Amino acid sequence: MFKNRDILSIHDFSKKELLHILATAKKFEKRDKIDLLKGKILATLFFEPSTRTRLSFTSAMEQLGGQVLGFATPGVTSVKKGETLWDTIKMTEQYVDVIVMRNPIEGAPRLASEAANVPVINAGDGANQHPTQTMLDLYTIQKTKGTLDGLNIGMLGDLKYGRTVHSLTTALSHFKTNFFFIAPNALQIPDEYLEELDKKGLKYTKTAKLLDVSKKLDVLYVTRIQQERFPDPLEYNKYKGVYKLDKSLLEHIKPDLKIMHPLPRVDEISPELDETSHAVYFEQAGNGIPVRKALLALVLGKVE
Ligand code: CP
Repeated sequence: MFKNRDILSIHDFSKKELLHILATAKKFEKRDKIDLLKGKILATLFFEPSTRTRLSFTSAMEQLGGQVLGFATPGVTSVKKGETLWDTIKMTEQYVDVIVMRNPIEGAPRLASEAANVPVINAGDGANQHPTQTMLDLYTIQKTKGTLDGLNIGMLGDLKYGRTVHSLTTALSHFKTNFFFIAPNALQIPDEYLEELDKKGLKYTKTAKLLDVSKKLDVLYVTRIQQERFPDPLEYNKYKGVYKLDKSLLEHIKPDLKIMHPLPRVDEISPELDETSHAVYFEQAGNGIPVRKALLALVLGKVE
């Protein structure tokens, strides 16, 4: 089902497949070194900055006994001399068994998958998709809430440019989610995602005010305002700092609300919330390891 498969968009995965990935990840929870992927090599090609995604894929591959090569910035590669993405991928596939790629251009991983005969995993393409982040987000919700079904999920911040929100909305639409999209009008979730929800008959609310809906939420998924995606810096200045969560929020939420964030955060969540039982964003980042171990083992055909 997964051997040699590209992981490009969350749209390419059924509910059954997503649940299978989460169940496989559970088997890779233990942090130990095994030889499952001994002799296999992963390329991490990052044309955009990353801390969590690149490091957790690296750690996952090394824990499974495989090796990693790659780059964290295109500035050190022959892209600087004008080499195309197509040629970069045709070269890379000579050296490795699987490619993880982040690129600012939407659709670049799909193009890479057409060039490559090895599986390509999208580690984020522009404002479009970040499917492996979504899989670890689902894993975190399932682990911390005990279910994925029928939850009230709030998404707050930059819902226009935040690719993690786009992938997560699509994924949660499989699970009878009631959505609350909390953003200034100009940064609201694009209509194409709402159309998906309409087609499935799912309920959603759009608002700019967190406190209007905060008491209803089981999960609040916070995102930063994506400065690098704004075509006009003045437009970014209008919205930076628009949401700043601190301890005053605690009076307006359910006692078991979980606050998530794909990270990095800027100023949208005060560190004073970190030690509360609500904050699960660091645990969420840690869940990248079992989920990415599972994905590597699945696409390399070492688990079914
Ligand atoms: N969440 C996430 O994608 O983080 P990085 O940009 O650090 O990889």
